Amino acid sequence: MNEAYWIKSSESKRYGKLNRDIKADYLVVGGGIAGVTCFYLLAAAGIETVLVDADRIGYGCSGRNTGKITAQHGLVYYDIESQFDLERARQYHRINDKALELMETLIDRYSIQCDFQRVQACIFTQDEGYVGKIRQEYETYMKLGLDCRLEKEIPIPVRVKNALVLNHQAQFNPKKYIDALAEEAVRQGGVIYEDTRIVDFRPGKRCVLKTGDKFTIDAEHVVIATHFPCYDGMGFYFAKLKPMRTYAVMAEYHKDFPKCHFINAEEPSRSLRYVHEAGSLLIVGESHKVGHQKKDHYLELKKFGNEIFGIGDYQYQWSAQDYEPPRKIPFVGYLTKDTPNIYVAAGFNKWGISGGTAAGMVISSMILNGSSPYEDLYAHTTLMDVASSTFVTENVDVAVQLVSGKLKSGDRELPKSAGIGRVVNIGGKRCGYYMDEEGNEHILDITCTHMGCELKWNELEASWDCPCHGSRFDYKGNVLEGPACLPLNPYNEEKNRINPQIR
Ligand SMILES: Cc1cc2nc3c(=O)[nH]c(=O)nc-3n(C[C@H](O)[C@H](O)[C@H](O)COP(=O)(O)OP(=O)(O)OC[C@H]3O[C@@H](n4cnc5c(N)ncnc54)[C@H](O)[C@@H]3O)c2cc1C
Ligand code: FES
Repeated sequence: MNEAYWIKSSESKRYGKLNRDIKADYLVVGGGIAGVTCFYLLAAAGIETVLVDADRIGYGCSGRNTGKITAQHGLVYYDIESQFDLERARQYHRINDKALELMETLIDRYSIQCDFQRVQACIFTQDEGYVGKIRQEYETYMKLGLDCRLEKEIPIPVRVKNALVLNHQAQFNPKKYIDALAEEAVRQGGVIYEDTRIVDFRPGKRCVLKTGDKFTIDAEHVVIATHFPCYDGMGFYFAKLKPMRTYAVMAEYHKDFPKCHFINAEEPSRSLRYVHEAGSLLIVGESHKVGHQKKDHYLELKKFGNEIFGIGDYQYQWSAQDYEPPRKIPFVGYLTKDTPNIYVAAGFNKWGISGGTAAGMVISSMILNGSSPYEDLYAHTTLMDVASSTFVTENVDVAVQLVSGKLKSGDRELPKSAGIGRVVNIGGKRCGYYMDEEGNEHILDITCTHMGCELKWNELEASWDCPCHGSRFDYKGNVLEGPACLPLNPYNEEKNRINPQIR
């Protein structure tokens, strides 16, 4: 049951893995919406481009989200206006709106069957403390001239204090879209390798990347679109991106649902949309920092669905994570100012469908034209980010996680039944123990191969999760998601290798 509806719903084409050394002038690492959009735009411009993905196209966050395409990214415009200025808020809206337009154009041009519909977007609150924030956001919308309205009621059975509706937004099946766009890019000359994880990255005039199978890719321009950058290059992304896990449940629902998607402004988060092709309601929310879950978040969402919509039987549930940047604007453009041939797209703050498409547009324009009119929008990392209270709090948490795991001793007794993961103490060493349904024991060194924090067991997903920067590993030690690139070793073999590029 723990599989995303979108991934189940789209039979995607299989691409082979890289099995030799290659040279590529243009290389995109990561086949999510950011990477595939950039890959497509380069291929459509006649540039020979290679894309590699550690897993399969669209199997990352881009195939596990809510499928809303909108420039309404929670409450963001007032914050951008106050932290920067109105012009930056205008640019932020414009590029996300252009991303939506591009997606609609491509869906039309290639007749992509991805259940695309134009709908409204609505952000609401049930909390008196957010009424003023929604009003402030509305005032910034008005200054930007957006087609919007403030409401006291919304057309679903949720009593709200106020709500902000933005017209002419959209929703779709993200996986069907990404699969079709990747296929189109291949038709136009692009080459894709799946199951090809980059585990080592040497920057230079030509970059040299190593795959997990020890093949080399020698590339002149590299776009890192791996969700969390697989190579940091002293950009300190590990210290700027906060990994947030979020849950989704989906159930058949055959009553009328308005042509609108919804999200609340407060915590716990609740995001709703109707999935027409499945006749189902999708409920998403319960975000928390990775490695910090405290309850059964699926159950909380199901209770909400039951109370508000009378739903009892859920066909799908899944979870995913995305990364929050310090000041709500993603990182898009050069990896650092010293790397004119390495680009990055990351930190979409759970709005990377339009944000990742925008990133693909901006980076492909930087490659094709030498610049993009949106470079200034994204050139926002300053010393202020590093000094901001959120940044300091986050990195204090990382420091605590780095040492705290090593001080606790762990259980000496192994769990007796299958399916339970636990930190145990074997011969004075803290290890991760899990027994699978066949009775096989998996005992791992649980030092994260990114920067050395101790991993925590995630009971809901049966995975070892890193509370520092969000890496996740399955119970056999394979990387599920980065920034870690290297797997975990069994406890009785040599110690885990911490990613040599980061240290
Ligand atoms: C629950 C949830 C709901 C959301 N809903 C919405 C929504 O409704 N609308 C919206 O706009 N946004 C939404 N988002 C956010 C959005 O889904 C993400 O921001 C976006 O998908 C990120 O795209 P990406 O291309 O950066 O990453 P991904 O889609 O994760 O793609 C990255 C790819 O890189 C590959 N990779 C990673 N490491 C390596 C490596 N070392 N070597 C090679 N390949 C590698 C991975 O296999 C993966 O395929 C949601 C997020 C969550 C968590
Ligand atoms: S993800 Fe950074 S230490 Fe684990």
